[in-house]
Amino acid sequence: MALIAILPGDGIGPEVTAQARRVLEALDLGVSFEEAPVGGAAYHAAGHPLPSETLDLAKRADAILFGAVGDPACDTLDRHLRPEQAILGLRKELGFWANLRPAKMMPGMEDASTLRPEIARAIDMVIVRELVGDVYFGEKGRRETADGRREGHDLMSYAEDEVRRIAVVGFEMAQRRRKSLISVDKANVLETSQLWRDVVNELAPDYPEVALQHMYVDNAAMQMVRNPGQFDVVITGNLFGDILSDQASMCVGSIGLLPSASLRAWAGDNGLYEPIHGSAPDIAGQGKANPCAAILSAAMLLRHSLDNEDAALKIEAAVAGALAGGVRTPDMGGADSTSQMGDAILAAL
Ligand code: NAI
Ligand code: MG
Repeated sequence: MALIAILPGDGIGPEVTAQARRVLEALDLGVSFEEAPVGGAAYHAAGHPLPSETLDLAKRADAILFGAVGDPACDTLDRHLRPEQAILGLRKELGFWANLRPAKMMPGMEDASTLRPEIARAIDMVIVRELVGDVYFGEKGRRETADGRREGHDLMSYAEDEVRRIAVVGFEMAQRRRKSLISVDKANVLETSQLWRDVVNELAPDYPEVALQHMYVDNAAMQMVRNPGQFDVVITGNLFGDILSDQASMCVGSIGLLPSASLRAWAGDNGLYEPIHGSAPDIAGQGKANPCAAILSAAMLLRHSLDNEDAALKIEAAVAGALAGGVRTPDMGGADSTSQMGDAILAAL
């Protein structure tokens, strides 16, 4: 029996993961659940944001459903004891190198977008961001030049196998979606990007049905707000993906609607699934949190780690159905509670 680790975390994390668990249980998938504290909750209970019991559970599990971490009461702690270290520790310990951020316009949410509704309506893309390489993890340093000026540097580099594995995720996803893959780089200026482009091109013949296009990152940023409907699957490096994925989420509107996955294989392996939002201490404990992002993260979990596309589609349709029916938490301008949103999604299921 597949084991799903639930790490609710802090603030609204427990509120939204509880609704996601209800939805998973209602599907009767024959999976088991185990919960463990993480983040500030774990620090208060066990003195560390990622206790060894929690890490062990994450490693034993077939998939991890994560809420959010972040606790104002921990703000004065040493950096390595801060709640946010838990998510970095999990990524590192479990070796998750691919970050998937779908951005899809939900029914009736066009007005929440920063874009004009008729443009926003077409948004349905997945950004696949490389997570463990690039300029964030290259050699870093500071030095002083002979004439006394300070200099800082961060080395941008990618190895071909790092590029290839992320490209495989992109091609495989595109194959199962609208069969379009856009690879984003800056190959007109960067050597790293030229290697990236070569490796992606070498893989293309293995996916003859997928239309591959390369796009410079500056153009991609512009196209994403000009005509976001043209994007299906996007692959890109760590730095460009960090920026583009945040940009794409704002085009969709409420932060309470956006799921994510961190993977180490394109499918069939353990992964970490979480809403893109944080612990929202300003609304925690008030039943105001929108659980849709956590519930859509559970759908991604079924799709990628448990190889259950049918159940994933059912959940996604139920969320769309509940929203189309007019249920709205306060972040979407309504007055429904977290559990009322959960109820509506269960009813639509
Ligand atoms: P946040 O995402 O927690 O909140 C930003 C704003 O969006 C707040 O006004 C909040 O009320 C609202 N919001 C967020 N999720 C919502 C939901 N599901 N329904 C309704 N409204 C929602 O970001 P913020 O305030 O910058 O960070 C709060 C804490 O969360 C910090 O400690 C931060 O480090 C942590 N954080 C953790 C993340 C994670 O666990 N992966 C990601 C981002 C932030
Ligand atoms: Mg970011």
